[in-house]
Amino acid sequence: MFSFQRFSLFLFCSFLSLSSLFAQSSPADSIEIAIDRLMAKMTLEEKIGQMNQYNGFWDVTGPAPKAGADKFKYDHFKQGLVGSVLNVRGVKQVRALQEMVVKESGLGIPLLFGFDAVHGYNTVLPIPLAEAASWDLPAIERSARVTATEAAASGINWTFAPMVDISRDARWGRVMEGAGEDPYLGSQIAMARVKGFQGNDFRSPFNILATAKHFAGYGFAEGGRDYNTVDVSPLTLHNIILPPFKASVQQGVASVMNSFNIINGVPATANRYLVQDILKRDWKFKGVVVSDWGSGVEMIDHGYAENLSQVAALSANAGSDVDMESYAYVNHLKNQVTNGNVSVAVIDQSVRRVLRLKFLLGLFNDPYKYCDSTREQVYAMHPEHASVARDMARRSMVLLKNDQDLLPLKPAGKKIAVIGSLAADKNSPLGNWRLAAKDSSAVSLVEALDAAGVSYTYAPGVQLVAGGPVHFVQELPINENDTTGMAQAISVAKDADVVIMMLGEHGLQSGEGRSRAQLNLPGLQQSLLEAVHKVNPRIVLVLMSGRPLAISWAAAHVPGILLAWQPGSQSGHAIVDVLLGKYNPAGKLPMTFPRSDRQLPIYYNQFSTGRPGPKKEVFWSHYIDEAHTPLYEFGYGKSYTQFSYSDLQITPSKDSVSITVTLTNTGSLKGEEVAQLYIHDRVSSVVRPVRELKGFKKLLLEPGARTSIRFDLPRSAFGYFDAQGKWFLEPGLFDIYVGGSSFASLTGAVQL
Ligand code: NOJ
Repeated sequence: MFSFQRFSLFLFCSFLSLSSLFAQSSPADSIEIAIDRLMAKMTLEEKIGQMNQYNGFWDVTGPAPKAGADKFKYDHFKQGLVGSVLNVRGVKQVRALQEMVVKESGLGIPLLFGFDAVHGYNTVLPIPLAEAASWDLPAIERSARVTATEAAASGINWTFAPMVDISRDARWGRVMEGAGEDPYLGSQIAMARVKGFQGNDFRSPFNILATAKHFAGYGFAEGGRDYNTVDVSPLTLHNIILPPFKASVQQGVASVMNSFNIINGVPATANRYLVQDILKRDWKFKGVVVSDWGSGVEMIDHGYAENLSQVAALSANAGSDVDMESYAYVNHLKNQVTNGNVSVAVIDQSVRRVLRLKFLLGLFNDPYKYCDSTREQVYAMHPEHASVARDMARRSMVLLKNDQDLLPLKPAGKKIAVIGSLAADKNSPLGNWRLAAKDSSAVSLVEALDAAGVSYTYAPGVQLVAGGPVHFVQELPINENDTTGMAQAISVAKDADVVIMMLGEHGLQSGEGRSRAQLNLPGLQQSLLEAVHKVNPRIVLVLMSGRPLAISWAAAHVPGILLAWQPGSQSGHAIVDVLLGKYNPAGKLPMTFPRSDRQLPIYYNQFSTGRPGPKKEVFWSHYIDEAHTPLYEFGYGKSYTQFSYSDLQITPSKDSVSITVTLTNTGSLKGEEVAQLYIHDRVSSVVRPVRELKGFKKLLLEPGARTSIRFDLPRSAFGYFDAQGKWFLEPGLFDIYVGGSSFASLTGAVQL
């Protein structure tokens, strides 16, 4: 059996994070020595075992499986042929499997336990796209901390998050998991989330390994159709797709997950250029590259490999260290080494990376570090986490429209109607990726109104989902025909002073495998909205969604629109806080809202065309049947108060450019504003976007208060990657814009 004590001496280091491995300090060296010693004892099979990851299967605490795939996996665990596992969770299960491997497999190398703790665990935080709308990095970090704490208490030491894929296409269901369309905002959020999951010291049993995924380009699936082809220019790759990954690596992220897609003709999992050249060589990434589920075997369907044996060689040589559920490494890698297609050095490099994470976590010292059942109990439902979730949800909401000052609501003496099946739904607000949470555990809107003592009359109107229970792995049946409830809703709405309508997407209409071609309000909800509007236009639409929706009709007709996204466990309470003005909304869109899905892809940092327009004649870049501008632009979001920007001053110095502006709260309520800074490179060797976000600051201002905001942009912020992926800084004239959205109009210029 492997001796843990022998290796504990190497773990007296004071600060164990992956980024500290970059420093030439003793902790890193001692871990490398420990790895050398361990690897010297390992057979080739055992080494390949560390590169093999299985999905969890049978009840680990029950009888051993006797046949089939379960038995096959079970035997492999015992033989030391598995290095990590996913979806085994809960202290009892984790301990049982860890004990089996540690006590019964040859060298007893402890397992890593992975799980998609994406936006919460027992407590569900808002979906990541919603959190991105807060532009609140400390809050986002806090949210990831809650997720890590609960997952760690349940035996998990590796989360497959954050998802840092930039996407410009709201049809893609997985936009709910990311931070939206902008590489700068995406990078800042990626770093905050990595910090939140990993903390800064892996000796703590509350910190877990994070994963930046999906490397790379997954968010650029053609047509927004999940798993589809990605074909992007080197400029898009280097300037848009890669920055959040690089930021994650700089933040010390422990692992990176390959994406399913091909990118420019080569599957990401076999992409040497991405993994070996960029990630491992240029960025000096020292952690583990894990494939996505079966992304290895899918190379056969892509037409890139003939068989699994070839998959094994292609992936290993490209630097994909761990095979998740493709069975390529475990079944074929040894042969590929024997026949000379993969060198032992390649295997050793991957194994070293896996073992490094295990040493960093201190698993050789204590393989049961994450198996404390008291801790598990404490974090099964933690009141502090509920309040973090509520606060995060409020910060994530975006006030899209507030005409007639319907909001904040003053319910006293008013007749309030609440309409929409989502208003009583306790499951949908949890969104997708909430596998550890109890079904239907969110606070619904009607429950929260009750708790706040608001009286109202509720009518569901039409149902969103047709039929019985919903399933994570199956298509969601949407109600397209059954209008039962429509008449009742209309009659309830008729006499109300204000109608709160909660409409939008079900939590399982976005996420993996859930691309939509139409971004309308699904099912019969648009008809319901129009029918209610006919009898009473005083509507506040609370929009629940996992992506930007095309809500042009509502934007033109409904006076109040609050985008709640999918807010998580505390959904109802957070929405009521905002509706009643207990919290003044400050969210800003991290992704453009299109006027219609036919405009997609649509994003703010587009290139200018040679025919920008508008022009009197038809010959400019536009549609003849739809505006070419967004419905709500990137960075947009209102408050119950108003802000104005003035006094823009730009002062270049040798290494940086300082930009100051005065922000004034011109309204009558205290509120927060996200001040955004954009640049535009007027003329360059490679055409640059019309605007690029380069900084933002979130500030709280009393009514009437003004403050000076200062951004210091390093000169490097004005550069870009050229088509060869080389950083390029050109002298020239740059426009600067500061304001409350990507349409900011306060502008100046600087010559650099
Ligand atoms: C497939 C998803 O693409 C990925 O994000 C996830 O981490 C794995 N499955 C594991 O569940």
